[in-house]
Amino acid sequence: MKAARLKDILATATDKLQHRLEAEVLIAHALQKDRTYLYAHDQAQLSDDQLSHIHQLIKRRQLGEPIAYLLEKRDFYGRSFKVTSATLIPRPETEMIIDQVKALRLPHHAKVLDVGTGSGCIGLTLAAEYPDWTVCVSDCSKEALLVCQHNRQALDLTNVVMHQGDLLLPWRGQTFDLVVANLPYIAPDDPHLNQGDLRHEPATALVADEAGLSLIRQLIEQAPQYLNLGGYLILEHGYDQQAELKKALQNHGLTEIQGLQDLAGHDRLVMGRWVGA
Ligand SMILES: C[S@@+](CC[C@H](N)C(=O)[O-])C[C@H]1O[C@@H](n2cnc3c(N)ncnc32)[C@H](O)[C@@H]1O
Repeated sequence: MKAARLKDILATATDKLQHRLEAEVLIAHALQKDRTYLYAHDQAQLSDDQLSHIHQLIKRRQLGEPIAYLLEKRDFYGRSFKVTSATLIPRPETEMIIDQVKALRLPHHAKVLDVGTGSGCIGLTLAAEYPDWTVCVSDCSKEALLVCQHNRQALDLTNVVMHQGDLLLPWRGQTFDLVVANLPYIAPDDPHLNQGDLRHEPATALVADEAGLSLIRQLIEQAPQYLNLGGYLILEHGYDQQAELKKALQNHGLTEIQGLQDLAGHDRLVMGRWVGA
């Protein structure tokens, strides 16, 4: 990228990425401006530092790195979350968990738990939407929790408790009005793992044994000990896992079991309620 005029840099980057919008987003990010700046100042001369930053971002994108990792952020339910290569990139379909929780009308001072919180997108969104709730979040990954901690501070949340550990173990002895989880559910041999953004996301955020079901099954087994009477369990899962998970919920004594579909019509969530053994 030799030319230093913004207009020319944008043209070169668009050519390299074969994608005008991505070129604009990455250049605007490097310049710490919004995209309209690129048009209003298209004759601006860029400094060597700016050029080098843009060059690096374009190169990383050409190698397939997800835009969210290059920008270090992704919007979820109207808020911006920091993401890094230690966290899953929040998916739009996961937002339906928030809508589902809202429909439950939990107690005013509910205590809820987000297991496998990653960037914190689910738990921290609930904490922001319901300041009177206590929202507990946990993950086995220390690196992911550092990102979650950053997001908690950026959102200025004071109603969040955070722990590191395996599934529900960090919360031994506690009970919740709601446990929610988007745990890894992709089978280790799923060919999609070699495609698109998934190639760059942490395997520990994506993959689980037993055809992707091992972690969710363990969580369902542990959940009754951690739910208040009348408490709910909501789980995100893969498009072909719903029937199996409904059975697991039933086998572990949950009731009011429901399966829900996302906007594309794919099975996406299962939920159940604990009303006692
Ligand atoms: C699919 S990602 C979801 C992240 C975030 N909740 C979201 O919806 O974007 C799964 C998360 O579960 C965490 N995880 C994987 N195995 C776990 C375990 N055994 N106990 C706790 N967390 C686990 C991963 O580190 C990762 O952050």
